[in-house]
Amino acid sequence: MTAEGLPMTVPAQDLPDRVRIHEVGARDGLQNEKSAVPTEVKAEFIRRLADAGLTTIEATSFVHPAWVPQLADAEDLFPQVADLPVALPVLVPNQRGLDRALALGARRVAVFASATESFAKANLNRTLDESLAVFEPVVRRAKDEGVQVRGYVSMCFGDPWEGAVPLHQVVRVCRALRDMGCDELSLGDTIGVATPGHVLELLSLLNEEGVPTNVLGVHFHDTYGQALANTYAALEHGVTTVDASAGGLGGCPYAKSATGNLATEDLVWMLHGLGIDTGVDLGRLVATSAWMADQLGRPSPSRTVRALSHKDQ
Ligand code: HMG
Ligand code: MG
Repeated sequence: MTAEGLPMTVPAQDLPDRVRIHEVGARDGLQNEKSAVPTEVKAEFIRRLADAGLTTIEATSFVHPAWVPQLADAEDLFPQVADLPVALPVLVPNQRGLDRALALGARRVAVFASATESFAKANLNRTLDESLAVFEPVVRRAKDEGVQVRGYVSMCFGDPWEGAVPLHQVVRVCRALRDMGCDELSLGDTIGVATPGHVLELLSLLNEEGVPTNVLGVHFHDTYGQALANTYAALEHGVTTVDASAGGLGGCPYAKSATGNLATEDLVWMLHGLGIDTGVDLGRLVATSAWMADQLGRPSPSRTVRALSHKDQ
């Protein structure tokens, strides 16, 4: 560690020079919060994340307000941050969600599929194939409007109802989303059960089945403390897009065993230590998560936030 409280830079072989962090704290991080976070606090959170150097900040979801009450203020929030010079993707589950997002000028959207029937039903109230059929015209219309589309695939490594998830099921959903026209896919370990060999096996199989690494991002929840190890494995495979949540906030209201995402600060500490550029100012990011933890009334679960917040005490 340096005197400034930053990691020593000691590069490792065969890793990318730069990683794009897809920050999900304002969406995945907050969607599970029980008490309503004021819209102004969410907007300030997003502004601070942008100021810390994050360039892709998932802002909110245009889902049914009764399904995710915390994000029912999407129409109020999005215009408050729309002028920031960063990409602000939003989740859209269907045509209605896309209408709402386009009406506010969103230029990036994400549909969210599941590798399993159980989660498709729990999260989208549809079978897996019905949900893909809903997404198809959503993706087509977004592309026609010149809007960039991400396709999430949840439960890639395990499912709380079904247990192990066969890799070919994950590949089938990934290929369907690519065939629809999704620009990027994000491989979700919704309940945080993956281990590095499993990650490498899925990435290799996707490549063999025609899905190239450069369209893949990884989205690890940290339930079993594996998110950083899994990320390192993905980096070794050549993945350069990593999802993370400031302060390690998060969880999915429709998957009870999901905890927070990989904390952005823990990710940045590792990446900067490896000499991998992220564009993020770690000090500002830690200050943002410490501020957000105060707003939520409990300490951040991020190890790096805790270590750096207490450094001077
Ligand atoms: P449904 O009840 O089947 O909806 O829910 P429906 O299509 O039957 O429509 C019923 C009513 O809802 C209609 O109104 C629609 O207009 C309205 P009515 O005609 O009765 O007055 N409606 C909407 N209203 C506002 N916005 C909309 C919308 N859609 C329909 N977009 C639905 C289906 C998809 C809407 C529901 O299941 C839903 O909103 N689910 C979202 C669940 C969610 O947000 N989960 C968390 C995000 S996913 C995640 O966290 C995982 C991820 O992080 C990756 C990982 O970790 O794996 C991405
Ligand atoms: Mg998630």
